[in-house]
Amino acid sequence: MKLIEVKGYQEMSARAADYLAHKVRISKKITLGLATGGTPEGTYRNLIEDHRQNYTSYRHVTTFNLDEYVGLAGDHLNSYRYFMNKKLFDHIDIQKSNTYVPRGHVLDIEQECLDYEKLLIDHGGIDLQLLGIGSNGHIGFNEPGTPFDSKTHVVELTPSTRKANARYFSSLEQVPTKAISMGIATILKAKEILLLVSGENKSEALAQLLEGEITEKNPASVLKIHPFVTVIADHAALSASKVRC
Ligand code: GLP
Repeated sequence: MKLIEVKGYQEMSARAADYLAHKVRISKKITLGLATGGTPEGTYRNLIEDHRQNYTSYRHVTTFNLDEYVGLAGDHLNSYRYFMNKKLFDHIDIQKSNTYVPRGHVLDIEQECLDYEKLLIDHGGIDLQLLGIGSNGHIGFNEPGTPFDSKTHVVELTPSTRKANARYFSSLEQVPTKAISMGIATILKAKEILLLVSGENKSEALAQLLEGEITEKNPASVLKIHPFVTVIADHAALSASKVRC
C-alpha cells in the first residue's frame, strides 16, 4: 500500500484528479469504479476543469459506482445517480449509457444485485476504483461486520452512517435505511484502488486501517491484502496515525 500525504482537501483532490485524468488519457479503454460523498466531490470538480482546459476525453470510459440508496429513483435529488450526473457526468463527454449506478428503485432489489455483479464481470471488471472511507471504516456501504467474500448486496445502514449522511437530506428520517452496495470481494477485484481520506473525523478510521489488524470489524482493513492500493490522505486524516511519510 502506497501512502501519499498531502496538506489538505484541495491538494488531495488535485492529486487524485491528476492521477485519474492521466490514466484516462493513456488508456484506449478503461473502466473506472466511482464513489460518492463529500470526499470525491473536489476530485470531480478538478476532472471537469481538466476536461475543459485540456480536453481530456471520456468517450472510451465506462464507470461503475459503488452504491445507491434503496428506494430512491435515479432522478431523486439524494440518489447517487443524481449526484454523479450533477457532479461529473453532465460536465464531461462520457456517454451516459456507459455509466452504471446500481438502481435503488426497482421491484426486485436482490435481482438488481445479481445483475449489477454480472454486468461488472461482463465488462471485464474495474481497472481503477476510487474509494472514500466512512468514519467507522466502511467502504462503499459495507458496514463493519460485512464478510470479506461479499458480492454486490443489500445492506442495512448503521445509525452512525445514516447520521453522517443526514447532512444531505432534510431530516434524519428521510435518510434511507438500506442501500445496495458492491461487496468487499467485488471491490477487491479491481485491478487498482485509489483511496482518498480527508479530515480529522476520518483519522481514527485511517489509523485503524494503517496500523490495526485485518478484520471484518473494520471493512477498510481488507485493503491491506490488495496488491495495488494508493492512499492519498491529508494531515488532518493522518493526525491519529503513527505512520507518516
Ligand atoms: C458514504 C458512501 C461511501 C463514502 C463514505 C464517506 O456513505 N457510501 O462510499 O466513501 O460514506 O463519505 P464522505 O466522503 O461524505 O465522508
